[in-house]
Amino acid sequence: MSTLTIDPVERLLDAAENGKSLIINREILHFTYIPNTILHRNEEQEKVTQSLLPILKQSRPSNLLIYGKPGTGKTLVVRKVLLKIQERVEKSNFPIRLIYTNSKEETTLYGLLVSFGRQLGLSEKDLPTTGLAISEVFKRLLKVITKEQINAIFVIDEIDYLAHLVSKTGKDILYQLTRANERLQKGSLTLVGISNDLTFKERLDPRVISSLGEEEIVFPNYTVEQIREILEDRISMAFMDGVLEKSALNLCAAMAGREHGDARRAIDLLRVAGEIAEREQTLSINEEHIRAAAQKIEENKEVVTLQSYPLHEKLLVIAVMKTSGLSTGEIYTSYKNVCKMTRQKELTQRRITQMLSDIELSGIITGRIIHQGIHGRTKKFKLAISPEIIKETFKNEIIFQDII
Ligand SMILES: Nc1ncnc2c1ncn2[C@@H]1O[C@H](COP(=O)(O)OP(=O)(O)OP(=O)(O)O)[C@@H](O)[C@H]1O
Ligand SMILES: [Mg+2]
Repeated sequence: MSTLTIDPVERLLDAAENGKSLIINREILHFTYIPNTILHRNEEQEKVTQSLLPILKQSRPSNLLIYGKPGTGKTLVVRKVLLKIQERVEKSNFPIRLIYTNSKEETTLYGLLVSFGRQLGLSEKDLPTTGLAISEVFKRLLKVITKEQINAIFVIDEIDYLAHLVSKTGKDILYQLTRANERLQKGSLTLVGISNDLTFKERLDPRVISSLGEEEIVFPNYTVEQIREILEDRISMAFMDGVLEKSALNLCAAMAGREHGDARRAIDLLRVAGEIAEREQTLSINEEHIRAAAQKIEENKEVVTLQSYPLHEKLLVIAVMKTSGLSTGEIYTSYKNVCKMTRQKELTQRRITQMLSDIELSGIITGRIIHQGIHGRTKKFKLAISPEIIKETFKNEIIFQDII
């Protein structure tokens, strides 16, 4: 039979049935998977456990702040410790509540506190999802803790997102939250904050820092060698024996360790490389697959960022793409032009200048300060990603069709 007559769908289904799959268990490479052994994190597991240990003796642990670069195992370790304490609690019937929230998912302080309340057992009636003043939400939380004499540990993961978002009153609540324990006659509240932004402290109110950081634990970066061992552990469960070439493993560890040892990036690379290799129906995963995976992940990040922008941010990115000028003034002219072509009302130059800085922060454009002698200084911007990605991402939005 000539290859032309083989149906492409049949071919893939055949391959899957014949067991030519490289990946045995995809879930093991998913970010929510909790591995049995957490390598190279014994000391951190001990420190976190030590710090929270008083809760089992019905006394209040200190507030705790955990730092470390992305992918250094902070969430993993904290979740495991909570899980283990929870197992003991269930056996003993202590009035202990371990509550985990992530401020990236709960994007307002109100949402975060409501999520906290729900996990304390407050219903919609006791604590409506909208409409109360923050201080009232806070009062109700403290009330239930006192009434039921609960010892609560409240973990706020990615707490830096919260610090970005909170308003003036919000900041005050964050402070009150860290000091809540002093207001409780019965029960207790311990706050655990996790952050991967090492500069986050500088942006917080010093009062919040001093009470949140009663204790601090820093997660160091993994070395390339440690990343490799973490990967080997996963590989043995996730892939068929021997399908990952040794050189590919080394490259993967090296790439993930290039900036700092990021275990998440390493595992992501591996998963995507495995998928690419499967699609190509090769028998093993090699260095090329790892490189292709890195590129795919990078592009994906940019696409997601672009898609998440509000309209005028998108217009502005297109304006930067279309202009050959680099100064804020030239970009603003181009932006006005783009607005005209899409029949949008333009924003002021001041707003646009601010917006350029925000877009720069997310890495889509880069800015450079140029000193101009007696004329002072000016900032020049250019695209940091390929125009093709912008065109590809926006081409299906009708409003942009005539301009890209
Ligand atoms: N020591 C380890 N052993 C096995 N897997 C690990 C280890 N450290 C991290 N991982 C895995 O790497 C990924 C990232 O870890 P984790 O989510 O804990 O990072 P993090 O420090 O919370 O990062 P971020 O600050 O970005 O939230 C997860 O899939 C986790 O299971
Ligand atoms: Mg995390």
